[in-house]
Amino acid sequence: MDQQEQKVAAAQAAFEYVQDLINHWGEEIVIGIGTGSTANLFIDQIAQIKNSISAAVASSEESAKRLKSHGISITDLNSAGTLRVYIDGADEVNENLQLIKGGGAALTREKIIAAASSEFICIADESKFVPLLGKFPLPVEVIPMSRSYVARELVKLGGDPAYRSGVVTDNGNHIVDVHNLEILDPRKLERQINNITGVVTNGIFADRPADLLLLATDDGVKKISRS
Ligand code: 5RP
Repeated sequence: MDQQEQKVAAAQAAFEYVQDLINHWGEEIVIGIGTGSTANLFIDQIAQIKNSISAAVASSEESAKRLKSHGISITDLNSAGTLRVYIDGADEVNENLQLIKGGGAALTREKIIAAASSEFICIADESKFVPLLGKFPLPVEVIPMSRSYVARELVKLGGDPAYRSGVVTDNGNHIVDVHNLEILDPRKLERQINNITGVVTNGIFADRPADLLLLATDDGVKKISRS
């Protein structure tokens, strides 16, 4: 399977998982949905069961638009309460289901929805599974006026920050991508970076990792639970 076929397989596995959940609960549920090409494939799948989904909370305007185009209602997280399940992709995932996210610049809303969900399911192709986080440049969302200051602080933490030129997040902020980080302690670095004044959040998902990884491989989709 090539990468695209693996993304389709992971999205299909998530669709089946959500379908089982809905059958088990016997009622319509509100689900959280992420951003990116893998999440888009999942959105296209769940259109088949749109009548069993009362609404979705989307992690970006782009995903909200795609959901609406399939006739799935969007609701605001403030009115939805705790979500039963959140489905999203990742840029990197390790064996502890800690992630790097934000390649699509939606990291802050993604982190909020993950925090507000009972279960976070990550869907990914095999290329995303890594022994050590950090090869993928770590996205950091910053308040625009703090960008240079935050970049200087990130250098002190050992990274090489680069401004993602021309990108404005759905929250009106900028993205700095930090290259050449060896993330040996993801929880520590997540907190250290979040403590820099001007940082909205960073793309390490270690304080709230995924609960289940649906990892598409040539041998099928592996279900890896957090131990
Ligand atoms: C968006 C994200 C995405 O989940 C991540 O970039 C993976 O995207 P894709 O499924 O296209 O590989 O974090 O902010």
